[in-house]
Amino acid sequence: MTSESVQIETPQQPTPAQQFTQLFSATRRGARLARLLAVEQLVAWGWPRDGERTDAVALVVAELAANAVMHGRLDGRGFRLGLALLPSGRLRIEVTDPCGERLPSASREAVEGGRGLVIVDALAADWGVHPYPPSGKTVWAEVSAMRAGVGRPPCW
Ligand SMILES: Nc1ncnc2c1ncn2[C@@H]1O[C@H](COP(=O)(O)OP(=O)(O)OP(=O)(O)O)[C@@H](O)[C@H]1O
Ligand SMILES: [Mg+2]
Repeated sequence: MTSESVQIETPQQPTPAQQFTQLFSATRRGARLARLLAVEQLVAWGWPRDGERTDAVALVVAELAANAVMHGRLDGRGFRLGLALLPSGRLRIEVTDPCGERLPSASREAVEGGRGLVIVDALAADWGVHPYPPSGKTVWAEVSAMRAGVGRPPCW
């Protein structure tokens, strides 16, 4: 019997260079912790603690996490925060909650009533909602991590 090395070609997904994901309790404390840990993660990635972009990400995380707790909570279930620095130079924020039946509208005209999604809309280059099977949803937002025309994190 001959042994041949078999080469299996696995399709490679483009992976973000830096990513973070964590589960939090669906409480005000959990939402606050999500914002604090997001900032700590950005600082660990070399972002300035008091920078404009860091503040923008913190605000977006705070509003999406608060919404997950206020509007997307199911008893006994938490929410998940994901951060990923994309090759495009944007920082993608994802907040996943277990309540897929109630979806905030991603259309800018429909962002009325509260101020949370208005803030997200103003700070994010883009944002939206997609289902998170089997029964949840992810509200995502992308914030520019770079100054225009600069290929590395700026001195914000
Ligand atoms: N994660 C979510 N799950 C379900 N519905 C949501 C979620 N996030 C937002 N919504 C819906 O979108 C609406 C607008 O959200 P927004 O954050 O702008 O306002 P708010 O949370 O009602 O008030 P505020 O943020 O000012 O305290 C909410 O009232 C809610 O109906
Ligand atoms: Mg809100």
